Amino acid sequence: MAKTTKTTFFCKNCGAESPKWVGRCPQCGEWNTFIEEPVAPKTSKGRLTTGSSHEPVTPIKIADVKAEDLPRIKLPSGELNRVLGGGLVPGSIVLIGGEPGIGKSTLVLQNVLRIRNRRVLYVSGEESPQQLRMRADRIARGRMDCECYLLCETALENIFASIQSEPPGLIIVDSIQTIASDALESAAGSVSQVRECAAALLRYAKQTLTPVVLVGHINKEGSIAGPKVLEHIVDAVLQFEGDRQYMYRILRSIKNRFGNTSEIGIYEMKEDGLREVTNPSEMLLSQSDEPLSGTAIGVTMDGARPFLIEVQALVSTAAYGTAQRSVTGFDQRRMNMLLAVLEKRVGFKLAQKDVFLNIAGGLRVSDPAMDLAVICAILSSNVDMPLAKGICFTGEVGLSGEIRSVTRIEQRIGEAAKLGFESIVVPKGNLKGVRTGQMAIKLIEVARVEEAFRHLFG
Ligand code: TYD
Ligand code: MG
Repeated sequence: MAKTTKTTFFCKNCGAESPKWVGRCPQCGEWNTFIEEPVAPKTSKGRLTTGSSHEPVTPIKIADVKAEDLPRIKLPSGELNRVLGGGLVPGSIVLIGGEPGIGKSTLVLQNVLRIRNRRVLYVSGEESPQQLRMRADRIARGRMDCECYLLCETALENIFASIQSEPPGLIIVDSIQTIASDALESAAGSVSQVRECAAALLRYAKQTLTPVVLVGHINKEGSIAGPKVLEHIVDAVLQFEGDRQYMYRILRSIKNRFGNTSEIGIYEMKEDGLREVTNPSEMLLSQSDEPLSGTAIGVTMDGARPFLIEVQALVSTAAYGTAQRSVTGFDQRRMNMLLAVLEKRVGFKLAQKDVFLNIAGGLRVSDPAMDLAVICAILSSNVDMPLAKGICFTGEVGLSGEIRSVTRIEQRIGEAAKLGFESIVVPKGNLKGVRTGQMAIKLIEVARVEEAFRHLFG
């Protein structure tokens, strides 16, 4: 029999197509990402449809479109609603991405189990109904008064067939990489399958105004399972991330057509599911009453959210020839830069000291406003003197030792005041135009590292 299967090459990273193998993707520039996949001929029969025929369409003038706020479907988790920009939009398609085992299925199931008055279809291509029920028991502790239906299926056509008779009010697909359509010959999880299945679900979502939530695995390169293509198709991409050694998880919005992308949600993984952390600062600050040397509290922002986080430093005399530097949760090169600034400005003997730095709670911070807290923690450990109780820091440190202004200073100060801090060290000049009258916290303005040092240690 003649070979009839047509194949095309796809880029695993961005989904670009090419009839021939190429070493470097012309679209995303990655090397060696092209793989061969069979494709169905693009005849009208081979195309996926969701059962609609072509109706005549007319464009509408933008001025005639009613600019009302999109109605949102509120989900039980407040954090999830916030990251979505106020809830799920009918007809939207949301992708929740994350590494395997981070808690995506838990997050989705937990929400689904608490939805009332809405029929939810939970399509799982990874777990059996028994496994899902066991997880649900753990999360909901026997309360199953929701309208959640399970469908353990991987064929796209069967999924569409099952929703014909009774359309659900919300569809969950866990995960999109396990779903495959008969119209394509490639295997589930391949670029073409993921792309076509997501596109078919998107068409269904838009036609019926049913919101769809896709769960997607992220491969180790960090792009959503090879098919970065999904990012273009869906309306919102939420990334669930965290360090598996710690129980904290951050839900971050990377793309959102119906909200901003600066919102984050924080969760803690417990034995009975995820718990929302509404006040992350309290969790990230140690409860010790006794002031310890080498710790400083910095005010950082993640997205639009300020929180206070503890920096711990240990400075000791280097026992061997080369001084050691070890950092967790902070950029090592940035710390080296800060140490060099300290050497130049306050006589910190860089070459003779081992420096260990740790950001509490297993979080990674990249906000430059943490610099001042890092420097103060190092100085405090160096002189072995604890910092005053109730003080916190925010400020970026420049190469000549100047303390530079940071963004959203009002919010940062507000968060510190809310948590009962007595004073906050802020960059000089950052308070221009800020009404400081009502602030229930002492503001200490510093312009240079030396000034901060003098202020803290006299
Ligand atoms: P899971 O939601 O299956 O991850 P994903 O869908 O992202 O692959 O769960 C991840 C881990 O969370 C799993 O290894 C066990 C743990 N877990 C808890 O600690 N408590 C719980 O209540 C649940 C359901 C899971
Ligand atoms: Mg899962």
